[in-house]
Amino acid sequence: MQVNIGQADFEEPTTEIESQDELESGEAIDLMLSILSDQLDHPELWAAIPQFVDGLPDLMSALEARLAAESNERDRIFILLLVAMVGASLGHAPLMLEQIRPLSARFSQSPLVQGAIFHLESLCDPDDPKYHLAERFCPNPFMQFDVLENSTHLCCASYLLTSAGNLKEADWEQVWNSDRAQQIRESIHDGSYRYCNKTACPRIQSGNVPTHAEQASQSDFWRETIENRATSLPVGPQRVNLAYDRTCNLSCPSCRVERYAADEATRSAYDQLQKRAILPLLKQAQVVFITGSGDPFASKNFRRLMESLTPDEYPDLRFQVMTNGMLLTPAQWAQFPTLHGRTKILKISIDAATGPTHERLRRGARWPVMLENMAFAGRLAAEGLIENYELVFTVQTDNYREMGDAVDLAHRMGANSVFFARLTNWGTFGVEEYREKAVFLPEHPDHQDFLQQMRDPRLRDPIVLPGDLKAFIWSEGREKEAAAA
Ligand SMILES: C[S@@+](CC[C@H](N)C(=O)[O-])C[C@H]1O[C@@H](n2cnc3c(N)ncnc32)[C@H](O)[C@@H]1O
Ligand code: SF4
Ligand code: SF4
Repeated sequence: MQVNIGQADFEEPTTEIESQDELESGEAIDLMLSILSDQLDHPELWAAIPQFVDGLPDLMSALEARLAAESNERDRIFILLLVAMVGASLGHAPLMLEQIRPLSARFSQSPLVQGAIFHLESLCDPDDPKYHLAERFCPNPFMQFDVLENSTHLCCASYLLTSAGNLKEADWEQVWNSDRAQQIRESIHDGSYRYCNKTACPRIQSGNVPTHAEQASQSDFWRETIENRATSLPVGPQRVNLAYDRTCNLSCPSCRVERYAADEATRSAYDQLQKRAILPLLKQAQVVFITGSGDPFASKNFRRLMESLTPDEYPDLRFQVMTNGMLLTPAQWAQFPTLHGRTKILKISIDAATGPTHERLRRGARWPVMLENMAFAGRLAAEGLIENYELVFTVQTDNYREMGDAVDLAHRMGANSVFFARLTNWGTFGVEEYREKAVFLPEHPDHQDFLQQMRDPRLRDPIVLPGDLKAFIWSEGREKEAAAA
């Protein structure tokens, strides 16, 4: 048989399958396994599976035989995904989705497994525009740098795990346009988004990835970048997330197993990184995000950095501050005049709307202090000292029943928005433990109750940013669709 991968939906075929004449099923399976071996998503392969099935009627039985004989765990997963794709192309997409969903918790950070689930979901609901990524252009890898301790990412590392390089060892310009950075950008141009965790990305899940035309209309830079399929960029990142220091006053179980504070040697290494790479990088950036890794007010490095980013030296820079809120008192705020009137957004993570849940999920926090500090942040927003104030809520079994109350709390505290996101497994949970916490997974015993909670009208309040939970939040339109189906 002959199979042509990628011509219809994806402009750049990533394999040489076209040149293969008269493949046997065994050879086709070898070829598909070699494509999947990079463990990235391959929507062009998923789209070509029906062609394989047409040309190779024995493909399913050959896959089943291969699965029975295969002892390598990694290859077994690849074969299971292929079985699901072949089954889907034979008309059984919902059943295949049900069968591979249990892999989701075990491989919660795998772009390949999550991409395969996303593809099967798209076959079950083809009209939902969030699945039409080939028509869309995510700007993040063209404007964002997330600097972790030993890796640097072109989006939040929680959804785009592949590193573009290490700022500890290279200048930012080298990392920004590294080979890997360019491959990641190419995956946006070619519509495969193969590096992205498609089920975890809030932009994808909330249908918030702009079309090519929408993004191109933003500026000449975007129009030229899109038209020329540029992967090497002449300007640096506009938004820089500093996430290298994990020092924090809390130890939330979702984030770490114990309290962490950088020692003196590590702090000195961060200082050098800041002087050599971060400060020059921030000279050309528009927004600095402090921080996605620890707490800005608990970290000596971040405190010093925030103090040093004065409006005189960094006139165009604005702050995005993310904190657990415990240290955000009026006295602390007064110590950081650089933030006053220059904070584009202040995010306070709460993960609860009641004291007991908050103190369980935010280990080390005290709810009465949080209530005071959240109200103080509301006053800062009202006075215009911060532009936007957002409460952040990471959804899990222990707190999903408090989501509606969190919306009320956000109003009471004077927040402009409340952002909900799924709990992911950052390695602090075993697979079973994560499964127990991941109430948004359909196989979870409380999932039906979770869906019931998602009907809470407060979750349709305009201040709600539903992120990667949007698909669960009830809407009249969805109800009508379900009834019609
Ligand atoms: C790591 S914290 C860093 C900033 C600050 N310390 C805070 O808590 O807001 C950034 C965000 O990650 C969220 N988070 C923690 N563990 C998570 C997990 N396992 N999956 C998804 N988000 C998580 C937190 O709730 C918080 O909103
Ligand atoms: S699609 Fe999502 S994960 Fe991918 S780069 Fe954009 S925001 Fe990041
Ligand atoms: S407050 Fe933020 S950084 Fe600190 S442990 Fe909790 S989630 Fe992690």
